[in-house]
Amino acid sequence: MIDLRSDTLTRPGEPMRLAMARAEVGDDVYGEDPTVRRLEERVAGLFGHEAALFMPTGSMANVLAVRSLVAPGQEVLCESRAHIARAELGAHGAYSGVTMRTWIHERGQVDLPVIESLFAPDMGPFFVPTAAISVENTHNFAGGAVLPIDDLRALRSFAGAAGARVHMDGARVWNAHVATGVPLAEYGAVAHVLAVCLSKGLGAPVGSLLVGTADTVAEARVWRKRMGGGMRQVGILAAAGLYALDHHVERLAEDHAHARLLAEACGVDPASVDTNIVVVPRSDAGEFVAAARDAGVLVATVGPTAVRLVTHLDITRDDAEKAAAVLARLA
Ligand SMILES: Cc1ncc(COP(=O)(O)O)c(C=O)c1O
Repeated sequence: MIDLRSDTLTRPGEPMRLAMARAEVGDDVYGEDPTVRRLEERVAGLFGHEAALFMPTGSMANVLAVRSLVAPGQEVLCESRAHIARAELGAHGAYSGVTMRTWIHERGQVDLPVIESLFAPDMGPFFVPTAAISVENTHNFAGGAVLPIDDLRALRSFAGAAGARVHMDGARVWNAHVATGVPLAEYGAVAHVLAVCLSKGLGAPVGSLLVGTADTVAEARVWRKRMGGGMRQVGILAAAGLYALDHHVERLAEDHAHARLLAEACGVDPASVDTNIVVVPRSDAGEFVAAARDAGVLVATVGPTAVRLVTHLDITRDDAEKAAAVLARLA
């Protein structure tokens, strides 16, 4: 089976497992795991922020990041198909008392005029005050679309002037970096706080980080423990993340090339594919998925009328070509 359902499906290879086995560890709740510290310092530095905090999932990093900017009873604005709005099971409301309003953009982009029209500063006891704006880069359900850095800079300066703050769900910001050549620090500069994942395209088995100021990270450390996310000799997992940063960032370009190959096979304009995710409009999405499975290719539906293909570390050029031949036949 060639598995294109998600880039979270990768399994650590031998060299990553060796790095994990050899990791120097300590109790991270005591702040004594040297490998975790190395990972946190490295990731904070990459994004030009003061500090970072390792945690089990991107969802937890998003929840703690958004709550660091938005108090209970305040709102965050985001695109309608953002992971924080659709795929975190209401966590931001359930845990943090945060409400959301959304703008709609087919490619998940920043729509500044609409964001400005939604933005509600403190208007007394009548409207929910907007505290933050969240962007997702790349945007998962918009087909791995990259948010152009100029749009992000414009958003950041609007937010600065309006007294709002910016959260970036950067689960796949590495893909945006490799696709555009924009340094990670420039993505870091447009957000007050980021959540970044090691367990998607970078191929680590577990792990995400919240990235922000030292104060934000200190507070998030308390909340991480409160939510049951304080882990002990977790350098074993952080070592996988460090290995991934050393070996799996630049190679994301291969995943992007494979995604364009698959797009072409499915009748999608490859120029519309920014990174490693291809969304194929199909009125027969369920049947298409079943037929692909019968032919040895696993793909997933996103709703009843679209199919999603995701390339990743475990998909070789040969796999991509074989899958493209199968999908072209079915399409
Ligand atoms: C854009 C985006 N943000 C956040 C997450 C959450 O990551 P996790 O599955 O580690 O909770 C995902 C997961 O796929 C994602 O695609």
